[in-house]
Amino acid sequence: MKILMVLTSHDKLGNTGRKTGFWLEEFAAPYFTFLDAGATVTVASPKGGQPPLDPVSDMREGQTELTRRFKQDPAAQAVLAKTLRLSDVNASDYDAVFYPGGHGPMWDLAEDPRSIALIEAFYSSGKPVAAVCHAPGVLHRVKFQGQPIVKGKRVTGFTNGEEAAVHLTNVVPFLVEDELKRLGGLYEKVADWASFVVTDERLVTGQNPASSKAGAEALLKLLSRDALTPARFIDRFEQVDGVHSGFRRNHAKGLGVSGFFESNGNGVRLSKAAVFEPGRVPVIGRFSLDGGQPYQPDRPNTRRGLGLQFSLPNGELWRTAMISFPLFPVRTPEIFYERLLAFKQDPATGKPDPAQVKAFEERHPETVEVLKKITAEPQASGFGNTTFHGLNAFLFTNAAGKTTPVRWILKPMHPFEAAGAAPPDKNYLFDELITQIHRQPLRWRLIVIVGKPGGGRWHVDARSSRGGGTQRRHGYHLRPADVASGYGAFGRSGAPRSFASLCAIVNPAHQRDETAERDHARGRKEGRIAMENQRSQFAVTDVALDHGRDGADHALYLRE
Ligand code: HEM
Repeated sequence: MKILMVLTSHDKLGNTGRKTGFWLEEFAAPYFTFLDAGATVTVASPKGGQPPLDPVSDMREGQTELTRRFKQDPAAQAVLAKTLRLSDVNASDYDAVFYPGGHGPMWDLAEDPRSIALIEAFYSSGKPVAAVCHAPGVLHRVKFQGQPIVKGKRVTGFTNGEEAAVHLTNVVPFLVEDELKRLGGLYEKVADWASFVVTDERLVTGQNPASSKAGAEALLKLLSRDALTPARFIDRFEQVDGVHSGFRRNHAKGLGVSGFFESNGNGVRLSKAAVFEPGRVPVIGRFSLDGGQPYQPDRPNTRRGLGLQFSLPNGELWRTAMISFPLFPVRTPEIFYERLLAFKQDPATGKPDPAQVKAFEERHPETVEVLKKITAEPQASGFGNTTFHGLNAFLFTNAAGKTTPVRWILKPMHPFEAAGAAPPDKNYLFDELITQIHRQPLRWRLIVIVGKPGGGRWHVDARSSRGGGTQRRHGYHLRPADVASGYGAFGRSGAPRSFASLCAIVNPAHQRDETAERDHARGRKEGRIAMENQRSQFAVTDVALDHGRDGADHALYLRE
């Protein structure tokens, strides 16, 4: 593991006549954290050689165990004295880059084209980038895919309050907090001077000097083999369910449908997303059963899924994935990953290993709680009278710029009837769905549930506020609020608004000649393979709607 650290060469604190440079703790803490984890560390700076130390950081109050270690470590001091020149380093020689702060970087690194290009090279080649304290300021001219790298990402950095506390608000070229916000970063902070680190995709940012060790640890986590990557998640599905070529790794059994969405225009009050403008737009979708077994028999209590894609007149696509349960049973993607294996069926018994299940349940009593709630509710007899829940909370922004937290559900217009015992026909749910749709369109109302201040803890996926609430990605902030407490909010929150009805009719999908995008989830390797002949009613759905690749949008762990 090779890590590059980039320090400032700038030593003038604006026009104050005072000295600045890098902050000692922000170099020492990550440096030793990386070394202790077995990494090789290389240090560079714009001018090369000894970078200037901010004298304030060398005062008694700024000392920590790791700065003292630095003072007693001649080897570390020698590394610092001989930093490479920025123009001589190449992103391809390292696995990650870390930028310590101090005020110095605000003047040189923030504007240095070599530094900007270096960060862009790291990030765009899939490598993590970390910056702590003032160093998130060095990201302000860095672009990724044509946009500011911080745009739409959760980030932190030196707060306005911290800058005011050191009396440099009017000295620094810009305020880190304001600049990150101006660029469209989803800026977060905690109390001034408390340790706080945010990781979003491959970008790690830390708030202040106290966050530098935690920032280094977050970077190591991204580099560690234990990090949950898209490929690892996909491998786990295959480890548990086997490899079923051409099928989705989860929700493998499904049926493609098409229909339309008729908006009554009420949503415009809450959101400027085009989907809510009055009128009818075409929709494609897919009903599915949870689980990676494409031939699993339909059962009344298997979680049901519905994925929809709305094609809007302006060319935009609006997508949402929903499930039949009002709660997600796990708190984080990591726990989902763990649970998959714990519940792997033993081929001999057709059941999971009770010891594994017990151990999992002991580790995650919250999941047991949620599943208890879910299973206490009666399940609907078919797909057509199932309520589908979007689960995650999002921010809608209307034309006046007012932002509202919302969730949504699809509520069937067909009467609820509780499921009885499963009939022997293994495809009874899907067969019935087809029969019903051929008889008459099935209709749902899209109901938006408006969060009220104090109405419970929703964790809002702030990214969804882009584009007026257009849901471009969803479903991956599985925080505690999405589990039990989210349910409370769901029950209590304000008057549901009935927006529109959705009408679905079966698409004769299996008559199409389609190809499957089999490997979309594996690091975007776009292996197109011919779909096996899946005329047998359900499997065709994956590709019939050309929905396979983007259908994975909802899971952070499936794509960047
Ligand atoms: C860590 C969380 C999750 C992981 C790892 C995960 C994983 C997956 C995977 C691998 C697929 C197959 C995708 C494909 O091959 O195209 C899938 C499909 C699906 N997931 Fe999830 N999922 C997660 C959370 C959720 C949540 C929160 C919801 C709903 C609220 C959801 C609803 C669905 C639906 C409806 C489908 C089928 C989509 C379709 O028919 O195209 N998932 N999921």
